[in-house]
Amino acid sequence: MNYHNPKLRLEEGHDKFGKIQWRSPSNIALIKYWGKHGVQLPRNPSISFTLDAAHTETILEYTPKVGNHPGIDLEFYFEGKQNDLFKDKIQKYLESLSETFPFLDQLKLKINSHNSFPHSSGIASSASSMSALALCLCSLEHQLFGTLEEDEAFKQKASFLSRLGSGSACRSVYATLGLWGTTESIPKSSDLYAIPYHNTVADVFKTFHDDILIVSKGEKAVSSRAGHALMEGNIYADNRYQQARNRLRNLLDAMEAGDLERFGQICENEALTLHALMMTSSPSYILMRPNTLLIIEKIREYRKATGHPLYFSLDAGPNLHLLYPDSYHATIQNFIQTELKPFCENGQIIEDKVGKGAIEF
Ligand code: DP6
Repeated sequence: MNYHNPKLRLEEGHDKFGKIQWRSPSNIALIKYWGKHGVQLPRNPSISFTLDAAHTETILEYTPKVGNHPGIDLEFYFEGKQNDLFKDKIQKYLESLSETFPFLDQLKLKINSHNSFPHSSGIASSASSMSALALCLCSLEHQLFGTLEEDEAFKQKASFLSRLGSGSACRSVYATLGLWGTTESIPKSSDLYAIPYHNTVADVFKTFHDDILIVSKGEKAVSSRAGHALMEGNIYADNRYQQARNRLRNLLDAMEAGDLERFGQICENEALTLHALMMTSSPSYILMRPNTLLIIEKIREYRKATGHPLYFSLDAGPNLHLLYPDSYHATIQNFIQTELKPFCENGQIIEDKVGKGAIEF
């Protein structure tokens, strides 16, 4: 399946212009996507909480292209400033979509992108930024050709195109939970795009918190892209992919039953497995920092002492995502502020929660 469509061409001398704005959130995977093949296809299914506070806002303005030089005519601004590095990446992405959106080279495009979180906070921005851009492109198609009226078709195409930009981005389009990857027991699940997943989940998870503890803001020593590639030579890879499928099934059962303890256990095991895979890659690498481990121990001690359902996850970096239900907000906040904040870089914490997915604004 692809979305190639040669009919999406504007008339010569058209006078189309307009402005589109999408806000799209970041997400935290509970079952991790780690390992890919082909054109951005995952080696195992994954599921994530869609976040809220950590998001990207992208504004796309378009006017008729002046002159008839070939290719994409793009002006790109990140946080209000021209940014050549990001521009090149976006330009290449848009060029790769020439058969999906053959009208792109008939327009002059101006893109402004802004993240709600500081660029150097150690939060991966590819999920929010690539999904915000893909959503803008689908809106553009719809404004020009009236082709994506139906919400499910619109979101599916946006998710598919987000995936081509960054795998994890395809899950950010949907409210609450996004599931990506073909999974036997889940109708409509696909390796090509994510689907929304919240109908069979206990209510407690729909208002879950995710406080992101910034342990270190530094650039990652090994990018996610390189990390995915190293999975191809990892001797644990096949077992890992099977484990992810089993864990996904167990996690969904736990979430349906509202079983916080089982949920938390699976989330923590997944986070540590991700980092174990990095440590067992060749060459091996470690993205956790000493304070990552120190905080993990404190969380586990706290849980043992109080019985409160506070769990952690990690993405491909040293920062911790603290997951807990809304009913424990006040008491767990107190613990975080007094016991954990001192171990964060400059005391930085981003208080986030499960969100409603991407919106046009
Ligand atoms: C550890 O989506 O950043 O966050 O497809 O190469 O852009 P690319 O990788 P990316 O990988 C995310 C890895 C992860 C786990 C996850 O989000 O599922």
